[in-house]
Amino acid sequence: MRQQMNRKICDIETVLKKYLPDKEGYQKTIFEAMEYALMAGGKRLRPMFMYEIYTMLGGSEPDAIEPFMAAIEMIHTYSLIHDDLPAMDNDEYRRGRKTTHVVYGEAMGILAGDALLNYAYETASKAFGCEYPERAIEAYRVLVSKAGVFGMVGGQVVDVEMNGKVPDRDMLKFIYELKTAALLEASFMIGGIMAGAKKDEVDTLCRIARNVGIAFQIQDDILDVTSTTEELGKPVKSDEKNEKTTYITLCGMEAAKKAVKEYSENAVALLDGLPAVNGREYVKWLVSELINRKK
Ligand code: IPE
Ligand code: IPE
Ligand code: MG
Ligand code: MG
Ligand code: MG
Repeated sequence: MRQQMNRKICDIETVLKKYLPDKEGYQKTIFEAMEYALMAGGKRLRPMFMYEIYTMLGGSEPDAIEPFMAAIEMIHTYSLIHDDLPAMDNDEYRRGRKTTHVVYGEAMGILAGDALLNYAYETASKAFGCEYPERAIEAYRVLVSKAGVFGMVGGQVVDVEMNGKVPDRDMLKFIYELKTAALLEASFMIGGIMAGAKKDEVDTLCRIARNVGIAFQIQDDILDVTSTTEELGKPVKSDEKNEKTTYITLCGMEAAKKAVKEYSENAVALLDGLPAVNGREYVKWLVSELINRKK
């Protein structure tokens, strides 16, 4: 399965490259900065889950799903560029290289984030020409709302406001659901919507992704304490530096590890309730892999 995963990452990167603008014109710098951040080599989990859910539920039209796969990774990458800015987490490494604002300067870093966000929507709209445009419109609606103030951005707002403060468990869960789970919810839901899933199935996909997302963020917090910069490709102890309350500072390391396992197992169990055409085992494997991920 790991080999399969590496092959899938290559396929996703081919899709990403296909949609990136040519690096020419007076604004060339922005195209370079967009590519620098996007092609740095992340895990590509969001487009991967999107594609796997789409094919698992019977979808088979590349022109329908690929614009959304590229778009979600662009939005995710923009969120990382802005998350690393001096005014936010102030981190200098990402995906194994210097952050975009360190290489291109802060102004261009901000603009590269803006650029990827807008270009994501330009890219996603290319799916409107597919066989089922009404599905693409619904998927687009999910994409924009999960990225915005009721999704990822909303979570980042509360996350930043809580620097140096101690949210209670409810508020911490709210932060994780929005800043991290929302984009995964978009990935799973869009995969389902584009494959023609029924409303209750899309709701189930949203619940699965929420469990995956919360587990994913708790594991991210664990790695921030236990890993190394070399292995992670981004600075460790960033949360401590920013006086962030995490699941670990609030509940302890053992409880955090247990929670990652429980949320992931919930997700795997819910996956069994979906009418898969094929590929369910791979999705279950991928979710389980995240429990013990090292980066
Ligand atoms: C990092 O996401 C930000 C979080 C939501 C924790 P990823 O760990 O998926 O980052 P990449 O895409 O692999 O770099
Ligand atoms: C960020 O959470 C989630 C985003 C929406 C970018 P973190 O601040 O913990 O992510 P990392 O550790 O910098 O990747
Ligand atoms: Mg952050
Ligand atoms: Mg950060
Ligand atoms: Mg982190």
